[in-house]
Amino acid sequence: MADETVISNLKKSFEDTFGAPAELVCFAPGRVNLIGEHIDYNGGHVFPCALTLGTYGAARRRADRTVRMASANFPEAGVTEVSLDDLAYRKEDGWTNYVKGVIWAFAKNGYACENGFDFMVSGTIPNKSGLSSSASLEVLTGETMMEMFSFDNDQIHNALFGQQAENQFVGMNCGIMDQFASAMGRKDKAIFLNTATLDYSYAPVVLKDAELIIVNTNKPHELTDSAYNERRSQCEEALAILKKAKPIKALCDLTPDEFDEVKHLLTDDVLLRRARHAVTEDARTVAAVKALDAGNLEEFGKLMDASHVSLRDDFEVSCRELDILAEEAWKIPGTIGARMTGGGFGGCTVNIVKSEAVPEFIERVGNAYKEKVGYEASFYRAAIGDGPHKVDG
Ligand code: GLA
Repeated sequence: MADETVISNLKKSFEDTFGAPAELVCFAPGRVNLIGEHIDYNGGHVFPCALTLGTYGAARRRADRTVRMASANFPEAGVTEVSLDDLAYRKEDGWTNYVKGVIWAFAKNGYACENGFDFMVSGTIPNKSGLSSSASLEVLTGETMMEMFSFDNDQIHNALFGQQAENQFVGMNCGIMDQFASAMGRKDKAIFLNTATLDYSYAPVVLKDAELIIVNTNKPHELTDSAYNERRSQCEEALAILKKAKPIKALCDLTPDEFDEVKHLLTDDVLLRRARHAVTEDARTVAAVKALDAGNLEEFGKLMDASHVSLRDDFEVSCRELDILAEEAWKIPGTIGARMTGGGFGGCTVNIVKSEAVPEFIERVGNAYKEKVGYEASFYRAAIGDGPHKVDG
């Protein structure tokens, strides 16, 4: 569906549901991470970009302290109503917990809403694809409040408040990458972000005669938050041990050579592999950004492949479906690089594929996947888009 259609349908549903037209419509993007996975909570470098896919939100201020929320994607869920004075997390409130969490985080940081609002969202990110529909919803909620209540807040803090909502309200211990990529996205650019300092720069994604292809495993949803939080605590355990030998603040403070000097301290094989992933992934990310800058796409692709292997074998966040997609992609001569992207356990791969090989890529990877997994994968040509903005009103 074209985005204009999504916006006009959203405005109509808003008016039908809440009985008055929306005051404004905003958008915030999802993201795809090119390289630098599971190191945004280890002080590492990441290299994501915002997508043109994302979440739209229509809103209207209210005179009282009620917030009413509805989603065009889940019409059966109806309207969820809460008071600004009772913003508790409730499992049964589903996606609206992200909105409540952001309102809560803004208030905690000095941006309290005096009045409630009606809010209807409509997302274009495939559900459970690992392309950060939740971060886009958080950043959208922040953007909408900033526009509607003239909050003098910047996008970096919009991202930080979104992360705080997710960590402290929803209970998912994510790093800053997804919210930062959404809030700070820029058309045709990837963001090279140092997650230890939040220093960042934009890098043009120049793929010459190649394209960015996202492939969705379409793996049915499973609960991954607990496995994610477990990886994070394993990294913290490994860090506590290595700190005894080196004055480091985060695992990614170590170069691969420095890690080799101290790795014998990690007598638990699981902790050793988790830490090795973090250290080597950071080095790969820094090298990949240099390679892209030098126009060396082949090298960038090789580092993507190595990232997948490390996530599969050392960090153990891949799954059979993602491995099949990556391995089938590697077999095709026109594939420059292929890896899982995002948290893992399902979701998507990101691939750089020569334009002339894209039809063959879709056919061969698609057929092999269907044969081995039993259902189809979906293919998208990724377009890199801008960060949050008002689209109407
Ligand atoms: C999820 C988290 C991010 C990041 C990635 C893995 O998307 O939300 O903070 O840790 O996983 O790189």
